[in-house]
Amino acid sequence: MDKFVIEGGRQLQGAIQVNGAKNAALPMMAASLLLEQGDRLVLRNVPNLVDIRTMGTLLGKLGVRVTRNRDVMTMHVTDDTPVIAPYEIVKKMRASICVLGPLVGRRRAAKVSQPGGCVIGVRPVDLHVRGLADLGVEIAMKRGYLEADASNLKGRTVYLGGAYGPSVTGTQNVLMAAVLAEGTTLIECAACEPEVQALAELLNGMGARIEGIGSPRLTVQGVSHLHGTKAAVIPDRIEAATFMAAAAVTRGNVRINKCRPDHMIAPLESFRMAGIETESGEDWIDVHSTGSFKPVDITTLPYPGFPTDFQAQFMAVMSLGSGISVITEKIYPDRFMHVPELTRMGAKIRKEGTCAIIAGVDQLTGAEVMASDLRASAGLVVAGMAAEGFTEIHRVYHIDRGYQNLERRLCDLGARVSRVSEKKDNTYIREAV
Ligand code: EPU
Repeated sequence: MDKFVIEGGRQLQGAIQVNGAKNAALPMMAASLLLEQGDRLVLRNVPNLVDIRTMGTLLGKLGVRVTRNRDVMTMHVTDDTPVIAPYEIVKKMRASICVLGPLVGRRRAAKVSQPGGCVIGVRPVDLHVRGLADLGVEIAMKRGYLEADASNLKGRTVYLGGAYGPSVTGTQNVLMAAVLAEGTTLIECAACEPEVQALAELLNGMGARIEGIGSPRLTVQGVSHLHGTKAAVIPDRIEAATFMAAAAVTRGNVRINKCRPDHMIAPLESFRMAGIETESGEDWIDVHSTGSFKPVDITTLPYPGFPTDFQAQFMAVMSLGSGISVITEKIYPDRFMHVPELTRMGAKIRKEGTCAIIAGVDQLTGAEVMASDLRASAGLVVAGMAAEGFTEIHRVYHIDRGYQNLERRLCDLGARVSRVSEKKDNTYIREAV
């Protein structure tokens, strides 16, 4: 296992490029299951991440040969009959559930291990199941697997609203089943995230007929088959926002290139409210930070609201605010694993139900902390960059699931972050600075 050792207090300066979005690339890769034997789907700007490789392995089990050349990934369907997504792979990555919709749509059957809960919450899949059942799919949980028989798949009206809003991967699954269902499907209360839009655009590029992209009402005219195509993965809005946060806490002057500011209205607005200067163009954002922030009251919401995946990183910024900030988590009520770790670094945060009340401090101090999930870890990295002295973040494999070469890229901006292997006998080997 690796850990990060961060020497805080280094000002970030310069330019950085954002990679393709993991959460867009994963369902786009899964969409290859909608193709016929012999067809190919080619995706550009695919980030090189553990989760992407896990999806590649899963697709391999499902008859799709996945190859990679730099940032280009090719999915070649060599056998369009397998339908089983096994537990050994699904347990590693919840997003494996994205294969359910396309298997049902094209192969008319699926047996997908049901993902369990995870550290950020219970994370049920009832909306996925309800949506597919509305399309005439017989679906039931048997011995830990969701088993689906889609011989009667038909376009119908599907309502995808849940207690915490619409579901991102639930919408993607229903959409991928609906594109090959006979007749018209109306998805009401669809998730509007850019990653859902990107999938819908890809599907239309493969010959699907989806209207209303980007809105909560998607209309799908079923077609009899799709064809291979080439497409690019959209930039990662959460990675871009994480760099913004790192620039902010280090009094940095950073240009973030190859991003989509139009996908980041809520994070940009929260920076404006905090008094952090930003400027943006079509595909770039500049952050000019003085290091002093006004307190902010924000609530995570489905897109275009403030993203839950940027909550921990923004909390690290607000830990250094000049007053009391409130962050309310409306997507994952339990997503506060970073709070006790941030308090180890001197942050003053009180969790109150689904809210965190943050009394800004003048300075954080380096400490040993534990990464618990991808975004919590990113929040700790941001805090570590601002803290006085050294911060050690254990279990950074969480970060590797969603950020490619994070330490090297931050070092290119002037940070001091090194990855260190933690050997079983507790002796540490320095790998890179
Ligand atoms: N929910 C239900 N029933 C369902 C599905 C979801 O109640 O059937 C609830 C969830 O428990 C949660 C809310 O609805 O409270 C939203 O969950 P959603 O289904 O939208 O999440 P997801 O599709 O499983 C994706 C991202 C997550 C991101 C969420 C919310 C991917 C692969 N994952 O998950 O990303 O937090 O949307 O935006 O797209 C991450 O990248 O770190 C990450 C966790």
